[in-house]
Amino acid sequence: MSDQPHALQTVTVWDLPTRLFHWTLVALMIFQWLTAEFGSAMDWHVWGGYAILALVLFRLIWGFVGSDTVRFRDFVRGPGTALGYVKALLRGETPLYLGHNPMGGWSIVAMLVLLLVQAGTGLFANDDITIEGPLYAWVSKGTSDWLTAIHKFNFNLLLLVIAVHISAVLFYLFVKRENLIHPMLSGRKHLPPDMIGETPRIVGPWLGLAVLAVAVAAVWMLVR
Ligand code: HEM
Ligand code: HEM
Repeated sequence: MSDQPHALQTVTVWDLPTRLFHWTLVALMIFQWLTAEFGSAMDWHVWGGYAILALVLFRLIWGFVGSDTVRFRDFVRGPGTALGYVKALLRGETPLYLGHNPMGGWSIVAMLVLLLVQAGTGLFANDDITIEGPLYAWVSKGTSDWLTAIHKFNFNLLLLVIAVHISAVLFYLFVKRENLIHPMLSGRKHLPPDMIGETPRIVGPWLGLAVLAVAVAAVWMLVR
C-alpha cells in the first residue's frame, strides 16, 4: 500500500441506499432491544420488527440488483478465499478491498440470515399476556411457544455476531489503521489507483426506493 496520501484516488464504494439501510438497521436494532426490555412498548416492538423485516428483504433483493460492491456475487466468496484472507491478516498484511473483504462478506450473510430468523419467528411469537405476532393463528400454541423460544435464543446469537462485526471494524480502525466507518457514512474510500481497477458501477437511489417499496409491500401483505 502506498503511504503517500496524494497518490490515493477517491472512489465511491457504497451507494446511498446501502448506507441508509445500514444505519437505519443499527437504529432499529437498538429500538427493538429497548422495546423488548420494556414490556409496555410491545406494540412498538412489533412495528420495529416489521421495519427490520422489510429492510432485510430490501437488502436481499439489493444483493442482486444494487451496485457492484453490494452484490452477493461480489462479496460472497468461497471458504478457501476467506481463510486465505485471515492468514494474510495474521501475517500482518492488510489486503485492500473496494467493497467487503471475504471474512466480512460471511459475517454479513450470517447477520442477514439471523435477522430473517429473528423477525420471522417474531411473527409467530406470543408473550402469554397481551401480544401475539400477526401469524400466531397459523400455528398451535405449542409451536408459537417454541418459535418464541427461538426468538429469544436467536437474539443472543445476533448479539454475538454483531459484537464480532463491531470488533472487526474497531480492529481495522485501531490495529490496521484503516477507517471503514467513514466510507459507510460518506460512501467513499481513498485507495491507491492500481487497486481500484475498474470503477464499480453505483446504482442510483431511485431503484433503491423502488426495491424498498416492493419489500414494504411484501411485508404488508404478509402481516395485514
Ligand atoms: C445493530 C448493529 C449492526 C448491524 C446489525 C450491522 C449490520 C451490518 C451489515 C448487514 C453490513 C453490510 C452492509 C451491506 O453491504 O449492506 C454492515 C457493514 C458495515 N458495518 Fe455494520 N452493523 C451494525 C453496527 C455497526 C456499527 C456500530 C458500526 C460502526 C462502528 C458498523 C460499521 C460497519 C461498517 C464499517 C461496515 C462496512 C464493512 C466493510 O467495509 O466491509 N456497523 N453492517
Ligand atoms: C429483527 C427484529 C426483532 C428483534 C431484534 C427482536 C428482539 C426481541 C427481544 C430481544 C425480545 C426479548 C426476549 C427475551 O425476553 O429474552 C423479544 C421478544 C418478543 N418479540 Fe421480538 N424482535 C424482533 C421482531 C419481532 C417481531 C416482528 C415480532 C412480532 C410481530 C416480535 C414479537 C415479540 C414478542 C411477542 C416477544 C415477547 C416474548 C415473551 O416475552 O415471551 N418480535 N424480541
